[in-house]
Amino acid sequence: MANIIKPEIPNRILFVDDEDNVLKSLKRVFVDEDYEVLTASSGKDGLNILNKNEVSVIISDQRMPEMDGATFLEKTIELSPNSIRIMLTGYSDINDAIKAINKGGANRYITKPWNDDDLVLAVRECNDRYNLVKRNKYLAELTRKQKEELEQWSALLEERVKKQTADIQKTNKELTISNRRLGENFNALIKTLSDLLGYRNKEQISHSRNVANLSHQVAKDLGLSIEEVAVINVAALLHDIGKLIAPDQLLSKPPEELNAEEFEQYKHHPIRGQLIIDPIEDLRKVGLIIRHHHEFYNGKGFPDRLKGQDIPIGARIISMADFIDRSIKKIKAPQAVGLSLYDMKEELGQRFDPSLYPLFEEPVKRLYASLSKTYVEIEKLVEKKRDIIKFVVDGESVKSIPFYEYQPDELETGMVLADELRSGSGVLLLAKGKVLTQININSIKRVYIIDPPKRGVLVVKEV
Ligand SMILES: [Fe+2]
Ligand SMILES: [Fe+2]
Repeated sequence: MANIIKPEIPNRILFVDDEDNVLKSLKRVFVDEDYEVLTASSGKDGLNILNKNEVSVIISDQRMPEMDGATFLEKTIELSPNSIRIMLTGYSDINDAIKAINKGGANRYITKPWNDDDLVLAVRECNDRYNLVKRNKYLAELTRKQKEELEQWSALLEERVKKQTADIQKTNKELTISNRRLGENFNALIKTLSDLLGYRNKEQISHSRNVANLSHQVAKDLGLSIEEVAVINVAALLHDIGKLIAPDQLLSKPPEELNAEEFEQYKHHPIRGQLIIDPIEDLRKVGLIIRHHHEFYNGKGFPDRLKGQDIPIGARIISMADFIDRSIKKIKAPQAVGLSLYDMKEELGQRFDPSLYPLFEEPVKRLYASLSKTYVEIEKLVEKKRDIIKFVVDGESVKSIPFYEYQPDELETGMVLADELRSGSGVLLLAKGKVLTQININSIKRVYIIDPPKRGVLVVKEV
């Protein structure tokens, strides 16, 4: 707030006359009025009073010894510029009155002898005018100061807003970068976790990715929220993570080939999967879906025998995607997609949620289109090499089969393996008699970098 002191409104008037009687008469006129009346018997005394007091109206006689009224009033201009000046003068002194107005800055003149009422009225008007001018000046100064302060505030505010906006933008940018990094790290962590199973069973890497691809698409087409779709995607990538702590024989055989005891073991992997990721709080929803991905729609699945809509939607979707991927890879023929979809249809209402089936048809055909082509390619190659394969598979040992030893870069599609191919640490990669496809060759190249076998790849020498 502007620091302007509210002005004093003095209501103080000064009479100057060299005749004591006149001064007394004037005082009497104003005895009942609400003024502080000051008097001086000469111009000099009048100036002394003005030096010490703020006076709103100065009324001076013209004819005085030493200093006449006009001269006195002129001198008051400097001392009290805003006071209203009145000249008291006789009828015959009109010229003096004009002189007082021109020289002394008098605002008006009153003739002697005066009419008391007229004098009071004149002084009142002059006093009011003085107060009005003073108030206006005060208000004008107040307004100017407030405007100035407002402008300062506004400039300061603008500056602060600019700085704060810049700060917020900077923080937002940093947050975006750090969120992106966190997101990237999180995705990399999920991918690493998902790929971990690949070290136990290399089929599992593509299995997890295919199940995630399909589940993600179906969840999206179902109209689930972005967050739900993301949770289902992660759950699909990690759905078999519980197999990490399963014995080897469980991983090497498909579930339908397990004996009763092995199958009992197999049934633990959904709960183990949930336990593995349970310490990560952000993955609790994912854990729940993993726990239920082997429940059946009719309540005959495991581990909790949940039924119908009680099974989380993500688990119902992943269960179907899991079935399709395993089935297509097991059939390994151009008709695999059609046959697997047919088999899934047969299980609707029993194992699978019937309402989800229509959402699977198109994405399944799209995802496995290239795989079908590969199967056609493999089938043709196998047909062409049937005799060689039979010879290799039935052969007693690799020594009885004529072969070349190739490095991975020298391999070509259609070549037949003369012996099984194992990684440096002994993991079986491909069986003997296998006809190489481009996918196999790419995998072999990677194994020779990560876990290189001691010798090259043994390929049948064709004649
Ligand atoms: Fe599973
Ligand atoms: Fe699976």
